[in-house]
Amino acid sequence: MPITASSADSSRTAQHVSIDEFVNGLRKLRKADFAGVAGTLAYIAASPLDAESLQPYLFWNAQHYTRNLIDKTELYELLAICWEPGMRSSIHNHKGQNCWMAAPIGRLVVQNYRVIAEDLASQRCEIVPTDLVEITPAQPVAVDPLNPVHDVRNCREWGERAVSLHVYSRPFNSCVVYSVEQGTCGEIGLGYTSMYGKLE
Ligand SMILES: [Fe+2]
Repeated sequence: MPITASSADSSRTAQHVSIDEFVNGLRKLRKADFAGVAGTLAYIAASPLDAESLQPYLFWNAQHYTRNLIDKTELYELLAICWEPGMRSSIHNHKGQNCWMAAPIGRLVVQNYRVIAEDLASQRCEIVPTDLVEITPAQPVAVDPLNPVHDVRNCREWGERAVSLHVYSRPFNSCVVYSVEQGTCGEIGLGYTSMYGKLE
């Protein structure tokens, strides 16, 4: 049974930090912390966010989740993604880049998939769902670099908004999206809803 995303329990005694403090700490991490998943996952688990400090970066759209850039360096980009109840992402990969997710507001579930076959030239694929991993304020998650295809959901029955914090290393501006039912895949471009607190 493949485990395709791993999670870390944050210390119950960890102090909440503001998003500014979180960014300062992230900027101090070394290249090696972003090359594997353990170093950055430990940092995120030890640095639960004060949700109130995120407010300047949160924009909501009734039709689609929003992608809000908070910080970007050569090594990583940091985004807050805002999910209304019932919203979910496409099934996607991360272009070979590492990804960490935390849920400072609400909770989200990650559905992982295993790729049986993928041919971008003909846009055909075969993927199967594997495990589900929940992201809560106390439990950040790292995407498994060996099984990086997943979707993210804010389940409608939970009835509350959610905000996820994403660290991607290195930054990427396109990814591959997949359809289980149609057996298709294709590359799409990625943009930002807002950058540094300002709507695009
Ligand atoms: Fe993702």
